[in-house]
Amino acid sequence: MRFDVLTIFPELLQSFSECSLIGRAQRKELLTLCTTDLREFATDKHHTVDDEPYGGGGGMVMKAQPWIEAVRAVTELHPSPPHRILLTPQGQTLCEAKVRELANHERLLLLCGRYEAIDERVAELVVDEEISIGDYVLSGGELPAMVLIEAVSRQIPGVVGFNDSVVNDSFRKGLLDYPHYTRPEEVEGLVVPPVLRSGDHAKIDRWRQQQAESATREKRPDLWQRWQGRQR
Ligand SMILES: C[S@@+](CC[C@H](N)C(=O)[O-])C[C@H]1O[C@@H](n2cnc3c(N)ncnc32)[C@H](O)[C@@H]1O
Repeated sequence: MRFDVLTIFPELLQSFSECSLIGRAQRKELLTLCTTDLREFATDKHHTVDDEPYGGGGGMVMKAQPWIEAVRAVTELHPSPPHRILLTPQGQTLCEAKVRELANHERLLLLCGRYEAIDERVAELVVDEEISIGDYVLSGGELPAMVLIEAVSRQIPGVVGFNDSVVNDSFRKGLLDYPHYTRPEEVEGLVVPPVLRSGDHAKIDRWRQQQAESATREKRPDLWQRWQGRQR
């Protein structure tokens, strides 16, 4: 899978691209992450990508022309046409189902905004879908892009070391994950549940399922209600 990111701060994605899960996945050629600096598509000598808003008011608006040209140029960098996503607080909120749907695309092109807004015509002309990472406003789309890339990458076989850990992750089956423990057996008086040291795998599976259900019931009543509805 290939991710292209358009931003005025490509350096924000540099260590993200080189380290940990994404860096390892790129070295294993399971995915490619390319960033392009939007300023390369500005036409003036100062590489200006913003201007004052029509109608007045505070904040600067990102100009349409650099975005449109950049999206078209980045599209040409690879033969598979990208699914073009604008990161914006006004988009559909990212969730597990959407992450899995996006993982089916061969290529995603992510547009990271800055300032007050992007000229509305960009969304109309060169965007397929708008996505938000939650009902709050950040200063730029780079963190949302990294959130999306990491979540989608986890769905690519081989990216996460033990595939089991993705299968049992929270939300995957509609429940939260069960509790996990590692050595030592006791920490400040809190002891690992004896069932986990019993060696009885059927018993351990039952315990984990019960724990996942009670965690979901207590921490996320909304998910719990949905889960119960699906069991009927
Ligand atoms: C300061 S925000 C602009 C917010 C805009 N004035 C509004 O209220 O809808 C600048 C950029 O950050 C990104 N951004 C901010 N919050 C976001 C969120 N919750 N999800 C996705 N992108 C976000 C978008 O790319 C946006 O263009």
